[in-house]
Amino acid sequence: MSVPFDYSGRTVFVAGGTSGINLTVAQAFAEAGAAVAVLSRNPDKVNSAVAAIGETGSPVIGFVGDVRDYDSVAGALAAARHQLGGLDVIISGAAGNFPAAARDMSPRAFAAVVDIDLKGTFNVLRAAHEHLRTPGAAVINISAPQSSIPMELQSHACAAKAGVDMLTRVCALEWGSEGIRVNAVVPGPIAETEGMARLAPTPELSRVVAESVPLGRYGTTREIADCCLWLASPSAAYITGAIIPVDGGWSLGGASQVFTAMRALLTAPRPEVTPEQEGAGAVAAE
Ligand code: COA
Ligand code: NAP
Repeated sequence: MSVPFDYSGRTVFVAGGTSGINLTVAQAFAEAGAAVAVLSRNPDKVNSAVAAIGETGSPVIGFVGDVRDYDSVAGALAAARHQLGGLDVIISGAAGNFPAAARDMSPRAFAAVVDIDLKGTFNVLRAAHEHLRTPGAAVINISAPQSSIPMELQSHACAAKAGVDMLTRVCALEWGSEGIRVNAVVPGPIAETEGMARLAPTPELSRVVAESVPLGRYGTTREIADCCLWLASPSAAYITGAIIPVDGGWSLGGASQVFTAMRALLTAPRPEVTPEQEGAGAVAAE
């Protein structure tokens, strides 16, 4: 059951808020009475998200933009403030991901994910700061278990989301005195999302993922939204710089095994290596 929060008179900007987890977050704030703005690249997704969020009856506006482009992010935030008023809550959730081994990934592939997830989050926070209504504003970055758990085929997302967590902590330090709280939510595997469609694309991998979660199931987009509603509210007024897993306990250990299973399913088996070969680069002691 969802906890009721009252966000009437508040404004919320969701970067990447047009599908999946972030769309449900945007809808949840609108249901709670907030005026909501969303931004993403695809105009069709922006239009359908605005229509879906608008069904709540709360004001909603959409912007087409790429978080990698600082000017488009800054323009959207300024326009949102102009149309809706000072911003109370910023959700930074735009991200890209695909499974790929570091040795096979092109530099542009690695950069694409770092640019969207990490540099995009910086752009959103940097551009949002001057539009925040303070004291009392709340920033929530949508991180991932990759931020703290090394996973095969995820060098780009691991590096980027680790950066997101540190950006969260540093901005919490720098902005605390202005009455701005900055936190991150770390979703576990969430059902019916693009992220899990890409990372667990077969029924077998889906089963492995669900079994690797201590609570034994995928989470729902609504469970992430409920955490965001609470974290941005006065009920969480003393929480800043926190990286909060909402993951059924996945980060306790199960997460890492899944990607090893994925490598086994998607790539050739690991070649046999003898102890002599493993030590081939070492210099023997006298
Ligand atoms: N495996 C390996 N490399 C891949 C890849 C894959 N599955 N998908 C894309 N790339 C590479 C491309 O080949 C390209 O590198 P190259 O120019 O050296 O060939 C590079 O990544 C950039 O791809 P491009 O399609 O130009 O990037 P984009 O900016 O249009 O899209 C992505 C960004 C690649 C992250 C795209 O998957 C995306 O838009 N994702 C958003 C949705 C999403 O991932 N949701 C889940 C969130 S957890
Ligand atoms: P999703 O539906 O693909 O959501 C990504 C959103 O970001 C979309 O609205 C997308 O819209 C937008 N976006 C992507 N690149 C962008 C860019 N360059 N500029 C602006 N917007 C951009 O994926 P999801 O699975 O729900 O994931 C949402 C968030 O949760 C991500 O931060 C992800 O890392 C995190 N997460 C997900 C899971 C999971 O189980 N799914 C687990 C842990 C963490 P456009 O395509 O229109 O740009």
